[in-house]
Amino acid sequence: MLKDKLLQLINKVKDDFQPGMSAEDFWTLEKKYLGRKGELAKIMKNLKELATEEKKEIGLLANNVKNELESFFSEQKKTWSDDNVDESSEVDLTLPGEKTQQGHLHPITKVQQELEDIFISLGFIVEDGPELESEYYNFDALNIPFYHPARDIQDTFFTEEGNLLRTHTSPIQIRAMEKYGAPLKLIAPGVVYRYEASDASHNSAFHQIEGLMIDKEISIANLIAISKEFLSLIFKKEVEIRLRPGFFPFVEPGFEMDLKCLLCNGKGCSACKQSGYIEFMGCGLVHPNVLKAGGIDPKEYSGFAFGFGLDRLIMMRYGIEDIRHLLSGDIRFLKQF
Ligand code: PHE
Repeated sequence: MLKDKLLQLINKVKDDFQPGMSAEDFWTLEKKYLGRKGELAKIMKNLKELATEEKKEIGLLANNVKNELESFFSEQKKTWSDDNVDESSEVDLTLPGEKTQQGHLHPITKVQQELEDIFISLGFIVEDGPELESEYYNFDALNIPFYHPARDIQDTFFTEEGNLLRTHTSPIQIRAMEKYGAPLKLIAPGVVYRYEASDASHNSAFHQIEGLMIDKEISIANLIAISKEFLSLIFKKEVEIRLRPGFFPFVEPGFEMDLKCLLCNGKGCSACKQSGYIEFMGCGLVHPNVLKAGGIDPKEYSGFAFGFGLDRLIMMRYGIEDIRHLLSGDIRFLKQF
């Protein structure tokens, strides 16, 4: 009985099979005979009721039938062509799979993290501060008098309660001095806000990184050494710098630090407006009034501070011509990094 059923199976499959049948019908056919609940499996179920001798014989036969069926189906698959695919079917099995898109970190985040790692390796801590600040931390404690033009309603976003969106990361200097005292070595990255029109090199929100180092006998030599070190590490080549006198109420003396243009190596090009140098950051030795405001004795300690625009640095590194791209959220732009 079982033996006949098994032998018939092959003919049944060949009868059911039609050349040029649709892919779907073909899969159904294969499943009908070879599937887990298919014809062959049904017959095999009865095997255990047989006597041992018979079990052996039928078992062997069943195996041969199974092999034969499998090779029949795989032979048919070899002759497979697109013609067999039923176009009315919703799933086109011949289509290549769709590649899933993988995201990545924003260039600002990437470079910020790189800088954080560099400064951590130099013994600095990474400090955070609030974007909504008080006039005290953003201005007063930083030796910026009430009549200073930067405090004007024109340049700062004030809230109705009299707070403001920080205009620089320098208030974190004061907060950190209060928190940790001296000696102190930190950087503080963050978004800052200025009430101004945006163009290719200005945005009303941008990223800054503040640096502060306070210890006994800190001088401009330390400022220069640390600056050259982190700039060479981030640009992955020797960087030349230049200091010009610059005024910031919270440092004395104060400087503007320029970088020798990385594109033309100082010869003059459109990126550096033919000057050979690019303005990079404000810096200087921390003003005694600022140390005092932070609770540190200026007779015992001195320090340097700097602040630079992260967006600017990224633009220089990647040759981006418009700062507004960075916060545009435009996928076509971001995909390039
Ligand atoms: N806070 C200054 C700015 O926003 C930069 C600066 C930081 C200058 C520290 C000197 C020292 O431009």
